[in-house]
Amino acid sequence: MNPPIRIPDGFVDELKARIRPSDVIGRKVKLKKQGKEWVGLSPFTNEKTPSFYVNDQKKIFKCFSSGIGGDVISFVMETERLSFMEAVEKLAEEAGMSLPKATPESQEQYDRRQRLYGACEAAAAYFESCLRAPEGAEARRYLEHRGLRPDRWAIYRLGYSPDDWRKTIEHLKSNGFSMSEIIEAGLAVEKDGGGEPYDRFRGRLMFPIEDPRGHVIAFGGRALQPDAKPKYLNSSDTPLFHKSRVLYRYKAAREAFGGTEEGGLIVCEGYMDVIALSEAGFAHAVAPLGTALTEDQLSLLWRAGPEPVLCFDGDRAGLGAAYRSIERALPGLQPGRSVFFCLLSDGMDPDDLIRDKGPGAMGKALEGALPLVEVLWRRERDLEPVDTPERQAGLEQRLLQAASAIQNGAVKSAYERELKARMRDHLWQLRAATRGTNSAPNRGGRVVAPALRGGPPAKTRGLGLVVRAVDSHHLAEVGFEALAVAEFPDPDVSAIRDALISQNTADSGVDRAALSNHLESLGKSRAAELLTNYPDIPEIPQGGSEEREWLIALEQYARLEGSDPAGRIPGEAFATPEDARHRHRLVSERRARTARLNEAAEKADQN
Ligand code: UTP
Ligand code: MN
Repeated sequence: MNPPIRIPDGFVDELKARIRPSDVIGRKVKLKKQGKEWVGLSPFTNEKTPSFYVNDQKKIFKCFSSGIGGDVISFVMETERLSFMEAVEKLAEEAGMSLPKATPESQEQYDRRQRLYGACEAAAAYFESCLRAPEGAEARRYLEHRGLRPDRWAIYRLGYSPDDWRKTIEHLKSNGFSMSEIIEAGLAVEKDGGGEPYDRFRGRLMFPIEDPRGHVIAFGGRALQPDAKPKYLNSSDTPLFHKSRVLYRYKAAREAFGGTEEGGLIVCEGYMDVIALSEAGFAHAVAPLGTALTEDQLSLLWRAGPEPVLCFDGDRAGLGAAYRSIERALPGLQPGRSVFFCLLSDGMDPDDLIRDKGPGAMGKALEGALPLVEVLWRRERDLEPVDTPERQAGLEQRLLQAASAIQNGAVKSAYERELKARMRDHLWQLRAATRGTNSAPNRGGRVVAPALRGGPPAKTRGLGLVVRAVDSHHLAEVGFEALAVAEFPDPDVSAIRDALISQNTADSGVDRAALSNHLESLGKSRAAELLTNYPDIPEIPQGGSEEREWLIALEQYARLEGSDPAGRIPGEAFATPEDARHRHRLVSERRARTARLNEAAEKADQN
């Protein structure tokens, strides 16, 4: 028998992902684009009308006149009369991927690898038994303290490595493994200057790491003392284990996730996060092994589902890590294939969040995950204010530069369009907010305060915002709280707002004429005039993003926090303390409502 040529795990998937079928097939068959597909004359029959289809998204071809169909590998096998291996070899060469050569040693190599798998498996079983033995008492206490009950340990194959220099080695030797195998499997360490090899993992809680087929190939070990260094110790790279190509619990997560049509795996940062997520019902969670996400890991993720969600601390370091993963993800984006970002708040990891606030809160956080384009946009937008043409050009250049990393042409142009549109709308809003009107179309961009502060304060800043509320009962309701706490530079704008608040009731609005009269009667004729002469503005749709932008623009005028909102509503509305209390209650109620509306609008925006 020939020595087996080993096709590495995932090699064929990766090969197919790299090759566009129409490129390879297009060299044999003249193809014409027809919608999402390519069409041509069958290479298998003598047909006169084209019935041969290639679909690059689905990575398949189908010939209706002969009934032959399949992927790019079977096409090459069929048309060039090659074996599967030969076709894979040929395509791999084209795609710049190399297969291990079939040398006489490969049977030996194959056997050697099997021995290493065996050693890792034996170690995993040994660590599991140690966790339940007397020496595992401290590790057991630690697990209970972290909320993991004994009946759950086996699911994650948790273990304990005895606090000893030779016990693991001795155990493996007694199971028939040689010292060189134990070392090669990453379980023992050999000092440079010679001397007896010793156990790599000592006195640690052990997390077995499996390859995509479920073989144990490495370990992570957590110290039990809070101050021990390093907190987590991982196996070094071995012939079985390359940490940049593995995700913790990938196989289990993929099985739990099931279909590959929509959504994707959850990616968090640590072993305990993966376990906490799984315990909370999110069993489709994985983690890289203490490093930033690599391209290999991204392809693993995309193999499981088109839109994985990457969780990060919402703090600075987490945001930095999220930003770095953008760079990794951009080149591999494809139609329908991306990543989402779940930015957690208060320096919490998923484990903390679930412990503190429960699985529901985690689910909410995941639902609120932001699309890649949003995080990219925020990263560039927030780098510096865009208050000069030079800075605007800088922003545009950075955005296009980022988009240029996208290899897929269709996705790249979609990004260019989207980013340009966001930028245009953003500048529009900045300008509108500075002028005090805000009828820009919106795409979820936020108004940046520093740029606003840069502009000269116009005499009637905020007037447009207030007039909008006068014109629309709905806005007056939704924006009640923001209006109440706003402080406008022009006292007459504030006067219009005061009048609006005092005259507007929950059931009916006001109109400009009535309010104008009211202002006149108070002797505020300039305010009345400003209101009457303000140009007509088109109404904005209820509950949409423009409404949210209006609110956000209004909130730019909010007075310093900390004072009593009711106390900020001036004038005649507070004739009596009851009135004031009534107003105060209304303010809190409406504040809650505004928050809910904002949240809803934001959600709607993301969908
Ligand atoms: P963290 O330090 O964020 O810890 O490491 P954690 O996951 O919250 O762990 P607990 O909750 O304190 O137990 C995140 C991941 O980074 C890797 C590990 O993979 C860990 O799960 N890491 C961390 C290391 O590889 N070495 C270290 O010393 C620390
Ligand atoms: Mn943690």
